[in-house]
Parts: sequence; C-alpha cells; structure tokens
Amino acid sequence: MSQLLYEGKAKKMFTTDDPNVLRVEYKNDATAFNGQKKASFEGKGRLNNAICTKIFKMLQQKNVPTHYIETISETEQLVKAVSIVPIEVVVRNVVAGSLSKRLGVDEGVTLARTIVEFYYKSDELGDPMINTDHALAMEIATKDELAEIRRLALDVNDALQAFFSEAGILLVDFKLEFGKLKATGEIVLADEISPDSCRLWDKETHEKLDKDVFRRNIADLPETYEKLLKRLEDVK
Ligand code: TMP
Repeated sequence: MSQLLYEGKAKKMFTTDDPNVLRVEYKNDATAFNGQKKASFEGKGRLNNAICTKIFKMLQQKNVPTHYIETISETEQLVKAVSIVPIEVVVRNVVAGSLSKRLGVDEGVTLARTIVEFYYKSDELGDPMINTDHALAMEIATKDELAEIRRLALDVNDALQAFFSEAGILLVDFKLEFGKLKATGEIVLADEISPDSCRLWDKETHEKLDKDVFRRNIADLPETYEKLLKRLEDVK
C-alpha cells in the first residue's frame, strides 16, 4: 500500500510498507522565484533522478550520511524517512544570484572563503535568511544540530567540488536540506542535489548547466540537463 504523503514543486513523496522508507517520484515540473514561474518539461524528472542518483552514490562512497537507499525506476528512488530540519542551507564558492544582488559584487567572483547561509524554510515568508541565533531562539534546531549541519554541508561541498571538477564543471553554489532519521534521530543529507538546486558552470566558458537557464530564459532546460548528465557519466 502506498499513499501520497507530500507533493512539492518538483517531487512527490509516497509511503511504503516500511514506515522507515519512503518513495520519491521526480516530477517534470520546474518552478522558480518561489513558484511564481512555472513550466513542465518532458524528461526533467528522469534527468534529475539520474543526476541525483549519481551524486548520492558518490557521497555515500565518501561516507557522507544521506537518506538515499536506491533508485527503483527512471523517475523514482527509495529513501529513508526523516523529519526535515526546516532550514535551507546554501553553500557558496563563487558569487552569483542573490549574493551578487545583496552585496553588489559581480557574478563570477571567487570568494576568499566558502560561505554557508541558512534560510528558514517557509513558502509563506519566502524563505527568509536567518543566522544561528535566529535558529536557536526560534528553536528551529539545536546548537549541536546546527554544528553538524554546517560540518556536513562543508563535507558535501568538498566532495561535490572534486566530483564536478572531473567533469570540467565549476560548482558555484548549491542548496541542501537535512533531516533527522525517523529511526535514530541521526542528521543526514535529505531532499535532492540536482541542477535544480545547484549552480554549475563550464569551467572554461562559464556556460550555465543548471536551472538558471530556465530562471533567466537562457536555454532549453531538458537539453541543458541532458548535457550535464552526459558530462557526469564520464566521471567514475
Ligand atoms: P540564490 O543565489 O538565489 O540565493 O540561490 C543559491 C543557490 O540555492 C542556487 O544554487 C540555487 C539554490 N536554490 C534552491 O535550490 N532553491 C531555492 O529556493 C533558492 C532560492 C535557491
């Protein structure tokens, strides 16, 4: 028996017979700007599932704890059930997007050190940026949980930078979500890592290989994601 547990902008989550396991289905929908821009692209679910699978397997090999169990079809994965920590964690290596606007620094400038940002996950509020004090005062997470989340986010950054670099790709920035395992409470990487949630530029040309092609009407989304997947297939 399988019931729809939650439908997000790009994925659906279903229960399975095992209360500690959920089934994720990647949808063909794309949204931007908190859902204000919407479209559907044939093949997007398949492409994101394939790209995310490759990345979660790579992270598992590097001993990063994730919710990933296995990929069961072109558009579906089994994952461990977690309660999501309501913080979107953005990691930035190169200036782009909202950081460029907020601090008035050109996109493409390499940061002197990696930045980790926290945003409170709330569609109604438009995911406002928060700091550690806000997270603690609002009891969104504990001090230990925040420290663990930051440590894991930086580990993921190291692993992803090395991985994308082998494909000739610059990891500009990305967004992560973490969850607490229903079974043990352990903090693990959850949600997805895909071109929907990362900025990925060709190292030489800075060609965009991520959802900015849709946000900014630069190129065809499925063609761009297909190109990215092809390049990642060559990485062992
Ligand atoms: P930003 O520059 O718009 O703050 O985005 C930083 C990174 O986070 C970028 O790689 C895109 C990703 N991101 C999401 O995955 N979901 C979101 O809702 C937003 C705003 C950004």
